Amino acid sequence: MDASQIAQVTEMMYALRNPAGVPTYPIIFVGLGVLTFALHILFVQMMLGTSVITIFGAFNTNPYWRRLAAAMLEVAKISVSVAIVVGVAPLLFVQVVYDPHWYTSNVLSANWVIGFIIILIFAYWAMYFYYFQNSKNKDKTVQPKSRWAMLVSLALMLVVGFIMHSLTSQILHPELWKEWYLQNGTLDYSGSQLHAYNLWRFAFFISMAIPVTGGLLVTYRRFKSVREDADQDYLNWAASIGKTWMKVGSVISAALYVAWMMTIPETAGDFATSFWGIIGGVMVLSYALWAQFRLNGEARFCSYMALPVALVIGLIVATSREMLRYGILDGFFGYNFMDYKVVMDWYSTGLFFLTFALVGGSVLAYFLTVAWQAGQTVGVYTPSPMVNRMGTIALWVIGLWTLQFFIIGIYIWAK
Ligand code: HEM
Repeated sequence: MDASQIAQVTEMMYALRNPAGVPTYPIIFVGLGVLTFALHILFVQMMLGTSVITIFGAFNTNPYWRRLAAAMLEVAKISVSVAIVVGVAPLLFVQVVYDPHWYTSNVLSANWVIGFIIILIFAYWAMYFYYFQNSKNKDKTVQPKSRWAMLVSLALMLVVGFIMHSLTSQILHPELWKEWYLQNGTLDYSGSQLHAYNLWRFAFFISMAIPVTGGLLVTYRRFKSVREDADQDYLNWAASIGKTWMKVGSVISAALYVAWMMTIPETAGDFATSFWGIIGGVMVLSYALWAQFRLNGEARFCSYMALPVALVIGLIVATSREMLRYGILDGFFGYNFMDYKVVMDWYSTGLFFLTFALVGGSVLAYFLTVAWQAGQTVGVYTPSPMVNRMGTIALWVIGLWTLQFFIIGIYIWAK
C-alpha cells in the first residue's frame, strides 16, 4: 500500500466515527475492555475444558472419570452463563472506542452476527438437555443418556467462538473492507461471509482451555478436600490430572502463541518481537513453571491460587492482544482511539463505577458466600444470620439504585 492509499483508509475510519464523542476518557473504555475480555475468555476456557471432561467421562467407564464428569458439568453450566454475561462487557467497550471497526465488521458478516445468538441458544440448550436427561440419576457411575447432546453443545460453542474470532480479525483489516463489500464489481449486501480469520490465533485462545481447566481441577480439590465426607483419593486423582493439564497445556498454548505471532498481519510490523509480542507467550509458559515448582507435594495450601494466577496471565495476554490491535490501527493506519472527542459526563461515569462497586460488590459478595459455604457443607446448608444480613443489604442496595434511576430520570424529563 502506498501513502495515499493508507491515508484514504485512515480518513474512512475517522469518517465512520460517532461525532457525538464519548462520555469519559477513551483509555478507560479500553482498560475495562481488556479487563472484561480477560474474564470472558477465562470463563470461555473453563466452559470448554469442563465440557470436554464431561464428554470424556460420559464415554469412559472409569468410575472416577464418571464422577468428575458429573461434577464438571455443574461447572460448565455456570461457566457458560458467566462467559456470556462477561462477554457482553467487552462488546460494549470495544464498540464505544472502535465503533467504526466493530460495526463495519458486524455489518459485513451480519448473518453470522445474528446466527451467533441462535447457535448459542442451541448450544446452551443442548448442554441443559444433556443435564436434565441425567440429573435424576443419582448413581454417577452408570452410563449417561443422550451423550450426543454434549458433543453438539461443544461443537456449537466452538462455532460461536469462531464467529467472535472472525469479527475481531476483520477489524484488523480496514484496508480490505471495501474489497469485501464490493466483490468483482458487485455490492455484496448479504453479510453471509466471514472474511478473515487466523486459525493459529483461534487455536491459541481455545487451547488455553487445557491449562485453565487444569487450574480449575487443582482448585476443585482444594475446595472439596475440607468437607467431612471428602474422598481424598478421588480428589488427589483429579488434582494430579489438573497439574498435568496445566503443565502440558501451557506448553501447547505457548507453541500456538508463537505460531500466531508468526502469522500476524504484515501491517503489525515487528510486533511479534516487541515487548508485548513476547511477554504474552512468556506468561503462558510461566504457568507450566508455576505448576511445576509451586504446586509440588501436596500443595494443599496454595492450590486456590491456580485460578487467580491464570487470570493474571490472561490479563497480560489480553493486554498483548489489545496492543496488537492498537499497533495495527494506530501504528500502521494512523487511527488513534485516544483522540476520540470526549464530552465529559461525570454523573454517568461516576454511576458506572459506583454501580460496579456497590451493586456488583454487595450482590456478588452475598452470592459467592452462599455458593462457597453451600459447596463445603455436607447435607442441607442453612446460612448464618450474618450471611442473611448480607442478602438484605444487597436487596437494599438494588432498591436504592432503582430509586435513584427513576428520580434522576424524572428530574431530567421534567427539566
Ligand atoms: C459461548 C461461547 C463463546 C466462545 C467459545 C467465545 C470465544 C471467544 C474467543 C475465542 C474470543 C477471542 C477472539 C480473538 O481475539 O481472536 C472471543 C472474543 C470476544 N467475545 Fe466471545 N465467545 C463466546 C461467547 C460470547 C458471547 C455470548 C459474547 C457477548 C455477547 C462474546 C463477546 C466477545 C467479545 C466482545 C470478544 C472480543 C471482541 C474484540 O475485542 O474485538 N463472546 N470470544
